[in-house]
Amino acid sequence: MMSKLFNFNLPIVAATAIGAVTILGMYLLYRKPKRNSIPTEWKAVGKVKGLYMYPLKGGRRVELKTAHCTGYGIQLKTENGYPLKDRFLAVYKEANKEYKTSKNYPKMVLMEVTTINPDTITINAPGMSTLNFNVSTLDSINKPNKISIWDNEKVFTIDCGDKAAQWISEYILDKPSGLRLGLHDGLPDHRRNIKETHQKYFKFYPYLESSSLGLYSYLTGYLLINQASVDELSMRIPASNVTAHNFRPNILVEGENLGPYDEDKWGWVKIGDVMWQNVKPCTRCLITTIDPDTGIKATDEEPLKTLKSYRKSKDVTKIDFEGDDPVMGIYLALKRDGEIKIGDTVFIGKS
Ligand SMILES: *[C@@H]1O[C@H](CO)[C@@H](O)[C@H](O)[C@H]1NC(C)=O
Ligand SMILES: *[C@@H]1O[C@H](CO)[C@@H](O)[C@H](O)[C@H]1NC(C)=O
Repeated sequence: MMSKLFNFNLPIVAATAIGAVTILGMYLLYRKPKRNSIPTEWKAVGKVKGLYMYPLKGGRRVELKTAHCTGYGIQLKTENGYPLKDRFLAVYKEANKEYKTSKNYPKMVLMEVTTINPDTITINAPGMSTLNFNVSTLDSINKPNKISIWDNEKVFTIDCGDKAAQWISEYILDKPSGLRLGLHDGLPDHRRNIKETHQKYFKFYPYLESSSLGLYSYLTGYLLINQASVDELSMRIPASNVTAHNFRPNILVEGENLGPYDEDKWGWVKIGDVMWQNVKPCTRCLITTIDPDTGIKATDEEPLKTLKSYRKSKDVTKIDFEGDDPVMGIYLALKRDGEIKIGDTVFIGKS
């Protein structure tokens, strides 16, 4: 009985199997290539116009000619200084260990971080004497704590000591205490993990990963902006003196044939040997309304107000996840490290 049934069904079984294999083969052959693979074709779209890092989150920009691009963001290469990194310092509130930025204290944008030797970080601000502290002697280097940043995410932090805390509190609060300074050493074991805190993001932005986050950056270590986008916004509000600096990019790109907001559609970016994938547009907040060179907050909420009128995230990306926040610039995840410099050609690729 069994064998009879088997014999009878064999051609059908065989045909079904051949059919299934054929369909699978066609699927493998014709499925859309995964966007996450490295592009094979690149197109030159412009040049690097500016390179910037912000050693203190919320603090003044450092303008670079050459940028050393690492997994967590731009690092300053100096022969006789401490290796300053993008957003590796953060001010936090002593009472609840919550980070603070120029959104809370606009005068923070005038705090300038430099280095004078391999052990020493130097901070200057208007009306203050220079603050120097020796990183190797920080008591807390062996007992780091955590500070909370966006979405209650807790991030590794080495406290920079009482002298720095007092200096920062005096400058920002006009009081001897209240704020402290935290430092991230950038070691791989101390990097962030946003798997739980940012679960919702991954649903909409599948190429975002913990491994591409900056130290105390909002998300990844690289924010790219196209000058044409800034010019287009600036034309709408001539009285506001908006420049790319309002948006605190790491990489500013310009190109004769670049149209405003072209960068929204870029999949991959390559400059020299360095390569990134576009993982998310950058949503903008009130920080953009602070004049980056005076620390004065605009009373008319520009340029944010105008940007909101035509660049809401949900309209630009068709993803209704970040409400009415407008977008400007793109977050890039580093895929190959190296060095880039002003004037380098910028290539884009699709995969
Ligand atoms: C910083 O502290 C270390 C450890 O005490 C010391 O060896 C080094 O000389 C100090 N550096 C400076 C510039 O004072
Ligand atoms: C824009 O810049 C001009 C020239 O520097 C200055 O006079 C004016 O006050 C600025 N306006 C604003 C809104 O900052």
